[in-house]
Amino acid sequence: MLEDKDRIFTNLYGREDWSLEAAKKRGAWHLTRDMLQCGRDWICDQIKASGLRGRGGAGFPTGLKWTFMPKQVGDRPHYLVVNADESEPGTCKDRDIMRHDPHLLIEGCLVASYAMRAHACYIYLRGEYIYERERMEAAVKEAYEAKLIGKDNVHGWDFDVYIHHGAGAYICGEETALLESLEGKKGQPRLKPPFPANAGLYGCPTTVNNVESIAVAPTILRRGAEWFSSFGRDNNKGTKVFCISGHVNKPCNVEEAMSIPMKQLIEEHCGGVRGGWENLKAVIPGGSSVPLLPREICDTVLMDFDALREVRSGLGTAGMIVMDNSTDIVKAIARISYFYKHESCGQCTPCREGTGWMWRVLERMARGEAEHSEIDMLLDVAGQVEGHTICALGDAAAWPVQGLIRHFRHEIEERISNYRIGKPLVQGASVAAE
Ligand SMILES: Cc1cc2nc3c(=O)[nH]c(=O)nc-3n(C[C@H](O)[C@H](O)[C@H](O)COP(=O)(O)O)c2cc1C
Ligand code: SF4
Repeated sequence: MLEDKDRIFTNLYGREDWSLEAAKKRGAWHLTRDMLQCGRDWICDQIKASGLRGRGGAGFPTGLKWTFMPKQVGDRPHYLVVNADESEPGTCKDRDIMRHDPHLLIEGCLVASYAMRAHACYIYLRGEYIYERERMEAAVKEAYEAKLIGKDNVHGWDFDVYIHHGAGAYICGEETALLESLEGKKGQPRLKPPFPANAGLYGCPTTVNNVESIAVAPTILRRGAEWFSSFGRDNNKGTKVFCISGHVNKPCNVEEAMSIPMKQLIEEHCGGVRGGWENLKAVIPGGSSVPLLPREICDTVLMDFDALREVRSGLGTAGMIVMDNSTDIVKAIARISYFYKHESCGQCTPCREGTGWMWRVLERMARGEAEHSEIDMLLDVAGQVEGHTICALGDAAAWPVQGLIRHFRHEIEERISNYRIGKPLVQGASVAAE
């Protein structure tokens, strides 16, 4: 288990005050000026050496991403945009960082912006995060008043932070849709290239990073890349905030070492699965968009990017949704499909048509009102959506369906067969522990 002394988010549960004075006592804004004085190359090299990979879902190396920004500022200003849209079902880590440790994020914005030659940063918050927006605004105000940011601040790098509140669309978490939305347009993903580092916000060089990716940066620089990379396996370094919800005894957010076994995470931090580990049916390990994993795999799998990819799932946002044997797994995935259908922006035909098609078929399958041959047809359609769209929402809609058929095909088949012989569906055939 990660020791308290190695936690970056020491106020994740909001037991202490969030404000500047208390945040400083916990270590925020300590040696920040010294970090900037070490230079941009040093900052990028440290972040690269730490092994930090983006915490927003795709896991792209953060330090490397920062080096994609132009080395000189031309006639277009540089921007940092922090993605605080956090709309992936099962994920609520950025929310707690902003609520309880907002100064770590603001400090991270300054350091990252300096490394990328940006004098302005926009934090784009999910529409539903009203309380978090108010907290961020209050923390930004404190930082301005203390001259930690703003013009002629104590760090010697003029820097402004703007809080922008979204209108509550999942697609605006996709980085280019986010930029469109920030520009006041309809939030629809852009075709890439050009990538944001070349033409991002208002056509200017921009880097988009997740809240957690930015908020961990100052502590990595303070404690050293080696410290951060001492956690986790190769290529999967550092500490990570995991969000565990569903059928566990104590759902929670917890910062742990990357590569911790899933079983250990659930048993040690969440009081185990309702009714014991044997009552586990499946876990969606990285937010609702990644394929679920049945218990046999959950027994031994490690929580990191590579281990989860090897079992054909993903770490995603590390939003784990635990489902015990009482779960109607077909219905659960049908509900997830509905979400992606609802959130599709409609630009690409495979996504616009395919998400609704998959949802409708799954709804019928959940009742057993389908043909056996439709299972392969559903798999085929999911394959036609995956990888054939402008943004990864198409993949996000296809993967849960593929995971369901891969691991629980027998349940769909059984349900169809039972429906045909007039056997009613008994929801939650296995008894829940409670
Ligand atoms: C449909 C969709 C929704 C997304 N939602 C979020 C989100 O809410 N928060 C986030 O940080 N990244 C989200 N992403 C990933 C972003 O596009 C982007 O990769 C990320 O913000 C980069 O930050 P990172 O490198 O620090 O992970 C989403 C991607 C897609 C395709
Ligand atoms: S994949 Fe879906 S959400 Fe993404 S751009 Fe295409 S239609 Fe829009």
